[in-house]
Amino acid sequence: MQVISAIPALREALAGRGRIVLVPTMGNLHAGHISLMEQARAHGDTVVASIFVNRLQFGPNEDFDKYPRTFEADCAKLREAGVDILFAPTEADLYPEPQTVQVDPGPVQELLEGECRPGHFRGVATVVLKLFNAVQPAVALFGKKDYQQLMVIRHMVRQLALPIAIVGGDTVRADDGLALSSRNGYLSEAERAEAPRLARTLAALRAAVLAGERDYAKLERDAVAALNAAGWQTDYVALRQQSDLTPPSPAAAPATGANAVPLVILAAARLGKTRLIDNLEI
Ligand code: PAF
Repeated sequence: MQVISAIPALREALAGRGRIVLVPTMGNLHAGHISLMEQARAHGDTVVASIFVNRLQFGPNEDFDKYPRTFEADCAKLREAGVDILFAPTEADLYPEPQTVQVDPGPVQELLEGECRPGHFRGVATVVLKLFNAVQPAVALFGKKDYQQLMVIRHMVRQLALPIAIVGGDTVRADDGLALSSRNGYLSEAERAEAPRLARTLAALRAAVLAGERDYAKLERDAVAALNAAGWQTDYVALRQQSDLTPPSPAAAPATGANAVPLVILAAARLGKTRLIDNLEI
């Protein structure tokens, strides 16, 4: 595996390498990332992973400084996963001057995660477009755990007519259901034992909808109350349409039956100091 940090060197290394597949990450790789690397192989000739902790997508009181950086261990995992090239730019490589041109991802950035983390998706879209320009992949893979992020990226690609196919990889979970995330490493032992409640809450809500419950607002309220009663501080539990993450009306967008509309439940909640997100499609 070649490890490259400068964009000109990357372009040189990628010349004549066929169909390029990119898996962007912020490092601290877990089985969810590795599953994306393994899937990437089927989509092209050269698999490129990137590691870059992107300052632009962190709010002023978020965890940019303490975000786990485990470069050597990440390299070993990527080598084992058969990645061809690791693009690991420094901030000077990617942002040699203040990034005054940024991507506005449109209305989807105002919802849910965007509402809780103002500017987050602008930072994500900007760095992803910059990574796309550096790597020029034919295909890029992103985890579905960051459901809204995947939607923002698909929307950007469509609206800017980028010649890149976006593939979403299924969320990888621990045996107890907790969605794998780099931020799980912040959890204390007791918090780690409690954390699977988030996935269980989503599964219970999904089961209620599939059983015919149509008062979606009550389901959301009950789920938030149950999490908060167990010691969480919940930002949202939201039942939304997969197409645009707007709220469904149970009559116009039934979750089951002949006119079923694809729905998704998304949640974000804090356990101690750690903010976890998860989602489940219906
Ligand atoms: O999902 C992530 O790890 C990041 O948001 C991404 C897509 C690599 C952009 O920094």
